Amino acid sequence: MKVLGLETSCDETGLAIFDSEQINSANKGLVGQVLYSQIELHAVYGGVVPELASRDHIRKLVPLLDELLAQCDMSKNDIDAIAYTKGPGLIGALMTGALFGRSLAFGLGIPAIGVHHMEGHLLAPLMGANPPPYPFVSLLVSGGHTQLIAAKGIGEYEILGESIDDAAGECFDKAAKMLGLPYPGGPNIAKLAETGNPNAYELPRPMLHRGLDFSFSGMKTAVHNLIKDTPQSGGSGNSADSDPQVRADIAASFQHAMVDTLVKKCVKALKQANMTRLVIAGGVSANTHLRETLETELTKINATVHYAPPALCTDNGAMIAYAGFERLNAGQTDDLAVSCVPRWPLTELPALLPAV
Ligand code: KG4
Ligand code: ZN
Repeated sequence: MKVLGLETSCDETGLAIFDSEQINSANKGLVGQVLYSQIELHAVYGGVVPELASRDHIRKLVPLLDELLAQCDMSKNDIDAIAYTKGPGLIGALMTGALFGRSLAFGLGIPAIGVHHMEGHLLAPLMGANPPPYPFVSLLVSGGHTQLIAAKGIGEYEILGESIDDAAGECFDKAAKMLGLPYPGGPNIAKLAETGNPNAYELPRPMLHRGLDFSFSGMKTAVHNLIKDTPQSGGSGNSADSDPQVRADIAASFQHAMVDTLVKKCVKALKQANMTRLVIAGGVSANTHLRETLETELTKINATVHYAPPALCTDNGAMIAYAGFERLNAGQTDDLAVSCVPRWPLTELPALLPAV
C-alpha cells in the first residue's frame, strides 16, 4: 500500500510517500519525502503566527506534492491512500492539510485517514524491518509535549507521567533565545554545547524524586538568572562582554541538566512499568547527548533504547504516512467530514484492530 502523508500542524509543510511493500528495504518503506520549513517567515515575529502559517501551507502544498511525485517517479494515480495530520496543532494549519488531503483522496477515489500528530512521532522509530516489539515505554519529547507513555500496542497508550508546565523542546527554545540563538533552539544549543563543559554550572534537576511528572519552568528561571548574572554569556545584548567559552559552558550545562532529568525519569519509568525497551520520539529525541546518555544508562539496567533517524524525529510527512498506513491496514478510514482537533489526548485514540 502506497500512502501519501501530509503534515501541516504547525510551521513545517511535510509530505512523504510510504510504501508498505518496501518496508524491508534500506529506505524502510520511505519512497520519498519533501519538507518546507516556515522558520524564516516567522522569525521576525519571534514565534509562529498561526494565520501566516496557514496561508503558507496553502501556497506550498500543491508545488510540494508535484515535487514529491517527481522525486518518487510516481503519478497521483499510483497513490493508494492519504493520511493527514488531524491534530493536535494550530487549527487553521491543520485544516489546510486535512482539506487538501481529504479532497484529493475523494477526487482519486481512495481512502483517507486523519492521524494524531503525536502518534506519528511515537511510531516513527518503528518504521522498518525490525521494529522493537511491544510493550515499551515511550518518551515523547517535542516542542509542545513531554510525556512518558506505556505502549502496549498501537492506540494502547497509558500516560505514566508528563510535564506540568513547559515542554522539554520549549525549554531548549527559550534557553536558546536567552543566549541570542535562533529558533529552533534545540539544535543550536546542542551545537554550542559541543565545545562546552557540562559541569561548569550547576542547574536544577526538577521533580526528580516526585513520580514520573516533569516540570521545566524552574530550570528556565535558573538559566535566565545564570545568563543575567553572567555578563560573558552575551545575554545582556552587549557583545563586548561576550565570551564564546562561557556561552558554550552555559549551553552544555543546560543541556546536561535537561538530559540528566529526562534520562533519570526514563529509567524510573522502565522500572515502574517493568519493561526493558524505551522508544524516544519527537524533536528533542534528535539530541545526540540524550541518545548517548540513554545508551549508557540503559545498558546498566539491561534495557535498550530505540529512536528514528534525526530527520524523522522532528516534524515530517513520513511519520504521518506510516502511522496512517498502520491504521488503514487494520481497516480504519475516516469519512468525508473533515474535523480537526487542536487539543487531542493521545489516550483517546482507539486501539488498533487486528489486520484482516
Ligand atoms: O517534534 P517537533 O519537530 O515539533 C513539535 O511537534 O513540537 O519538535 C520541535 C522541538 C523544538 O523545540 C526543537 O528545539 C527541538 O524539538 N529539537 C531539539 C533538537 N532538534 C529539535 N532539541 C534538542 N536537541 C536537538 N538536536
Ligand atoms: Zn511534532
